[in-house]
Amino acid sequence: MNQARIYTNIKSLYGITANLPRNKAGREMKEFDHLDSAWLLISEHGTIKNFGPMNSVPEFSGTTIDCSGKLILPCFVDSHTHLIHAGSRENEFVDRIKGLSYEQIANKGGGILNSASKLHLSTEDELFEASYERLNKAISLGTGAIEIKSGYGLSLEGELKILRVAHRLKSVSPIPIKVTFLGAHALPMAYKNNREQYINLIINEIIPAIAAEKLADYIDVFCETNYFSVSEMEQLLDCGWKYNLKPKVHVNQFNSIGGIKSAINKKAISVDHLEIMTPDDFEALKNSNTIPVALPACSFFIKIPYAPARQLIDCGLPLTLASDYNPGSSPCLSMPFVVSLACISMGLLPEEAFNASTLNGAAALELQNEYGSIEIGKKANFMISKAVPSLNYLPYSFAENWIDSVVISGK
Ligand code: NIG
Ligand code: FE
Repeated sequence: MNQARIYTNIKSLYGITANLPRNKAGREMKEFDHLDSAWLLISEHGTIKNFGPMNSVPEFSGTTIDCSGKLILPCFVDSHTHLIHAGSRENEFVDRIKGLSYEQIANKGGGILNSASKLHLSTEDELFEASYERLNKAISLGTGAIEIKSGYGLSLEGELKILRVAHRLKSVSPIPIKVTFLGAHALPMAYKNNREQYINLIINEIIPAIAAEKLADYIDVFCETNYFSVSEMEQLLDCGWKYNLKPKVHVNQFNSIGGIKSAINKKAISVDHLEIMTPDDFEALKNSNTIPVALPACSFFIKIPYAPARQLIDCGLPLTLASDYNPGSSPCLSMPFVVSLACISMGLLPEEAFNASTLNGAAALELQNEYGSIEIGKKANFMISKAVPSLNYLPYSFAENWIDSVVISGK
């Protein structure tokens, strides 16, 4: 058990919510509620016990931490990552500098299939060690809850391998991990002339096997031209529901092919990417409970359009931001950078970007009752900034490390 402790003289305590068991949408996202000159009391169970203004600071005999000049904010919740992979793909990065596109690189054997070949040559232990290191790096960058996808296995053994690594990470991780099965990430070469066979393998063998070992919470599909069609996604999501795997899907990264509407019909928790959006896609989202997730680091890195995040918020939606960390399109674990990019390249206000990456991220992982904001009873997962002039300074000072320390479950 921890010791109770109090943080005092906090310049501003941000991300406060009171009885808000949901995310923020539209206009509400402009409010990242805060208290200036505050104290924050953490219980011995690692939860938030209370907070208030310094003129009413309680008598306290335990550890006291002075936060003069510093801000406290809830940790980020990174709701979309491909954290477990083997090796890296910096040669593809150089190919892009030389003029090839992400799609051209995939067509010549790079891309997801390149990572799948590397994963097949790695042991579970090697994958575990490498991803454990990445997890700790993410935490040091302020991430206090995370989602991890499979999708580099692309066979029964491969997907079980990557999901077992995720399971092992979960058992040692100080932060909560939600796991997503992404068997339909790319079509393996061996099925090039028989797509149906791969879909059947996922439905008849892989999903039942991972459900039997309880290895995943969600199911994902890369619904995109040259990857998986809308009707293939629908078959897979229907099968997922039979095994209690809720959908969170990759849609509209390069083309709008109807994936958003179909995912909404299949009661997807979230639709992620959204770089290419039609008016119909907006309409479908406006009439749904599905959460739109934007991934600006991917747009930045492979130079594709940014999701229309400003417009999504302006039409009242609960925009969410995540890193999309992966070795091909976003080798970036830094949520502070994602927040800066959202402000710089998507026109979000700092308050909107922080709501999108904390409380709204938690909702995209169904963790909003315990994570994502400063609220009595929630887990004490928060970041303490260095001494900074204001909240606006954080995204403004992009590529600078403004985090002084990260507290996870009160530690
Ligand atoms: O979200 N677009 C599909 N999946 C990843 C990229 C995976 C990779 O290139 O390895 C993404 O961008
Ligand atoms: Fe992704």
